[in-house]
Amino acid sequence: MSGRLTNKVAIVTGGGAGIGEAISKKFAREGAAVVVVGLDSDPVREVVDEILAEGGRAIGYLGDISREETAKACVKAAVEEFGKLDILINNAGAFPTVSTIDKYPTEAFEYMIKNNIYSNFMMTRAAIPHLQKSKGNIVSAGSEAGHMGEPQNTPYGGTKGFVHAFQRGVAVEQAKFGVRSNIVGPGPIDTAWTHKETGPMNAKMEKLTVQGVPLGRRGTPEEVANVYLFLASDEASYVTGATYYVDGGVTISKGPHGDEVPSHLKQEPTGELNLKHSKDGNTKVRKEALASMS
Ligand SMILES: NC(=O)c1ccc[n+]([C@@H]2O[C@H](COP(=O)([O-])OP(=O)(O)OC[C@H]3O[C@@H](n4cnc5c(N)ncnc54)[C@H](O)[C@@H]3O)[C@@H](O)[C@H]2O)c1
Repeated sequence: MSGRLTNKVAIVTGGGAGIGEAISKKFAREGAAVVVVGLDSDPVREVVDEILAEGGRAIGYLGDISREETAKACVKAAVEEFGKLDILINNAGAFPTVSTIDKYPTEAFEYMIKNNIYSNFMMTRAAIPHLQKSKGNIVSAGSEAGHMGEPQNTPYGGTKGFVHAFQRGVAVEQAKFGVRSNIVGPGPIDTAWTHKETGPMNAKMEKLTVQGVPLGRRGTPEEVANVYLFLASDEASYVTGATYYVDGGVTISKGPHGDEVPSHLKQEPTGELNLKHSKDGNTKVRKEALASMS
């Protein structure tokens, strides 16, 4: 396949589900060879098979990339298979529970430190020598919560605040090697996280979350992947240290404007990717975190 990422090699962490599935499939369609990374229980194999069936190039890598050895082995596997590394997408993350800070469980906090902070740090450190060789780039999953903070979800916003500041530092430090680093800050996206049936929010929180979005709906994983594509491509050659919010306007809004959007404007676009795993993510991560809290 040829396109905006022809001849590029990309690692997509958390690439088997949710937003990561869309990034993996979008990048493969645009010509990249993709290493789809996830935990054992993630549908990584399926996503790889679906990419191959479309004529794309991909391999899977299973493991917890918050661990130093696994992160190093993941980067090594990518370079051994495809000969180089051009793009690191730090998308893996966790959102195990919601609670006011006075009752927030230590275990859930530690879980996010591991999956949101360690994973980003470990993969970035392991990938940098290869990205320096290829004059490559990093795009990391931040969040509007990392910018604004978020009630009932305060430590999550804190972990994403780390990602924002850390990767801005990487952008400045690594510029002299030709390496770029940028951040995508999603608002509420239509994955397992923002539905009461599959994520930690109750019905009231879910409703308030969507009401707070000026565009009046969740974003789709594909709409987020479109922005990752731009930032990871050579089209963004003069963009580094930037945070692109893909949030339907939530970061700049004040109040429940989403309620005023007429229903015909709230329809999600159908998109063109064959996404099958947008609600499969966070299942094991959350189950383990909840089990450790009980
Ligand atoms: N969904 C949203 O509304 C939203 C909003 C803001 C930011 N984000 C960010 O976007 C990213 C993706 O979110 P999503 O909704 O697609 O989540 P998701 O749960 O659907 O997918 C995340 C994937 O990452 C994997 N993962 C987590 N920790 C890992 C680890 N240590 N090693 C390997 N794999 C790991 C999970 O198993 C899962 O498959 C996250 O970083 C999240 O913080 C999401």
